[in-house]
Amino acid sequence: MYLKPMRTLFALFLCLFALAAQAQTATAKLPRVVILATGGTIAGTGATSTTTVGYTAATVGVDALIKAVPELQKVAQVSGEQVFQIASENMGNEQWLLLAKRVNALLAKPDVDGIVITHGTDTIEETAYFLNLVVKSRKPVVVVGAMRPSTAISADGPINLYNAVLTAGSQEAVGKGVLVVLNDQINAAREVTKTNTVTTDTFKSPELGMLGYVVGNQPHFYRASTRKHTLETEFDVSNLTALPQVDIAYSYANVGPAAINALVAAGAKGLVHAGVGDGSLPTKVRPALSSARKNGVVIVRSSRVGQGIVARNGEANDDELDFVVSDTLNPQKARILLMLALTKTTSTKDIQRMFSTY
Ligand code: DGL
Repeated sequence: MYLKPMRTLFALFLCLFALAAQAQTATAKLPRVVILATGGTIAGTGATSTTTVGYTAATVGVDALIKAVPELQKVAQVSGEQVFQIASENMGNEQWLLLAKRVNALLAKPDVDGIVITHGTDTIEETAYFLNLVVKSRKPVVVVGAMRPSTAISADGPINLYNAVLTAGSQEAVGKGVLVVLNDQINAAREVTKTNTVTTDTFKSPELGMLGYVVGNQPHFYRASTRKHTLETEFDVSNLTALPQVDIAYSYANVGPAAINALVAAGAKGLVHAGVGDGSLPTKVRPALSSARKNGVVIVRSSRVGQGIVARNGEANDDELDFVVSDTLNPQKARILLMLALTKTTSTKDIQRMFSTY
C-alpha cells in the first residue's frame, strides 16, 4: 500500500539529486575569477538616484558589489577581496606595490583563472599600465570602473563588472596583457586614457585603437598590443618596498623653470617633461632640465598632446642633452615606465631601449 508512494518519493529524490549534481558540475566548470576591490565610483554612492556628480566614491564593499550582480554566478566562480577602499586620485606607490604583489600571488595559484580589479576611473589607466609591466602571468587581469555611482539611474558599474568578469574568465583574454573594460569596450593598458571628465564613453585608445568589444556575453578581440607586457617584461616588484620618486613638469606658454627646480630640490630621481607639441623645450625651461640631468636626474621628454611619437633628436638634441624620449606614452604613463626603469638602471641608453620596448 505504501510501496508506490515510497517509490515515487525515491524517484523524485533521485531526480533532485541528479539535478543538484548537474548544477554543481556545471558551476565547477566555470572559470574562477577573483575580484580585488580598491574603491572608486563603481563603489560610490550618491544622495539621490540622479546624483551623477558630487557623490562619494569608495563606500560600497566588494561583497555588496558582487551581490548587486547575481548574473556573475552564471559566468564564473567569483570570490572577492577588499584590498583597499579609496578614491583613485589618492592612488600611490604603496597601493600599487600591495596590489601587484597580491595579483601575482593569486595568479600563481592553479585554482585562479583570472582577476578583476575594481578601481576609480581617475587613475585607472595608470594602475593598469603599472600592472601591465609587473604582473608575472599570462592569465587575464581586467581593471574596471564606472562613471556613475552605484545608486544612480542606469549606473554603468554592474554591467561593466559583469563584462569585466566575463573577459577575465575567457580564454580569448589570455596573454593579451592587462586590460581596461568599460562601456562594452576592451582597451589595452598601454594605450587607454580617460578622454572625458564625466561621460560613460570616456575611455579610449586614441589613434592606435581599442582591442575589441564585450558583446553578447563574450569578449571579441580584433587587435593585440605589439609592445611587451606582463611575463615579457624585465621588471619585478616582488622584493620592492618602495619605488623611485619620479615627477612630471607640465609646459605651456610663458612657463618658467620654477616647477622643475622645485621637483628636483624635493628629490626627484626622474623627471618627465610634458612638453608642448612634439615635446618642445621652452627656452626658459631647457637650462633647468639640462642642469637636473647633469646632477643625475633622468629626464624623459614627453608631450602634453596625448597622441603621436615624441621623436628622438626632433625638437631637442637628446643625444647632446642625454635625455630620453617617451615614444607614444603620455606623461603619466611615461612616469610609470621611468619609475620602473630606475629600479633597474640609470643608463639613459638602456632606459631609451625600454621606452622603445614597452
Ligand atoms: N574620485 C574618482 C576616482 O575614484 C571618481 C571617478 C570614478 O571612479 O569614476 O577615480
